[in-house]
Amino acid sequence: MSLAATARTPDAGTAAAPALPGGLPIQLVAATKSFGDREVLRELSLDVAPGSFLAVVGRSGGGKSTLMRLVAGLDQPTRGRVAIDGEAVTRRHPDVRLLFQEARLVPWQTVEGNVGIARGPDWRASAGRVLADVGLAGREGDWPSVLSGGQRQRVALARALVGAPRILLLDEPFGALDALTRLEMHKLLERIWLSRGFTTILITHDVAEAVALADRVVVLREGRIALDVDVPLARPRRELADPQAVALQAEILDAV
Ligand SMILES: Nc1ncnc2c1ncn2[C@@H]1O[C@H](COP(=O)(O)OP(=O)(O)O)[C@@H](O)[C@H]1O
Ligand SMILES: [Mg+2]
Repeated sequence: MSLAATARTPDAGTAAAPALPGGLPIQLVAATKSFGDREVLRELSLDVAPGSFLAVVGRSGGGKSTLMRLVAGLDQPTRGRVAIDGEAVTRRHPDVRLLFQEARLVPWQTVEGNVGIARGPDWRASAGRVLADVGLAGREGDWPSVLSGGQRQRVALARALVGAPRILLLDEPFGALDALTRLEMHKLLERIWLSRGFTTILITHDVAEAVALADRVVVLREGRIALDVDVPLARPRRELADPQAVALQAEILDAV
């Protein structure tokens, strides 16, 4: 673990419950990713502190999903280094989970079956607990087709939480939800993150969402970090019109 990664510690309120392992640090050092002769990420360096909540904001095509794929081990940098807890990422890391805009549920599996997909033999014990955590207690036997969009994302979140991941990567996870459901999901994600303490990277093009959830926001523009700001607002966050939040949103929007 690098000194830089440990220097930025989460608020006292974000500490993991003792039984949970907490978050792992993520580090990019001069990471470049090219497709053909096009550099999508350009010598990107970034330290994400263990247990912290980072939002990455940027325009479409700016390299946000590419960054996430590198951290997840789904792709490799062309040059430079991506590390989790000091180890270079060369394949899918067992402690890293992903959440996408689409819930990606299997239609012929129940809610419980979807939560347990691709898990080890003892997943069922924690499936009920994570479903309760995301507000879906008692829905274990339902089919995905009867769920609303928000409920499907809750199932996807529950699936990501089985086995106590230490890093959660979210790629525009709420982009397809209506505004009220999105606000509910913000509260839910913050609460779960506060209680579990995993390191979170949220990719979003919604600046208000970034400020509402993250304790640090990075703007990715043309493959580089155009802005890197802390969000020193109290938790749990209130969504509405805090003057400091509004000022931060304006600063971030200027950089996007
Ligand atoms: N596998 C790939 N092959 C070629 N080009 C890609 C590939 N993945 C992404 N790109 C290109 O890289 C750029 C950044 O994409 P992406 O990281 O998905 O951006 P964002 O998530 O910010 O919208 C886009 O121009 C995209 O077309
Ligand atoms: Mg993307």
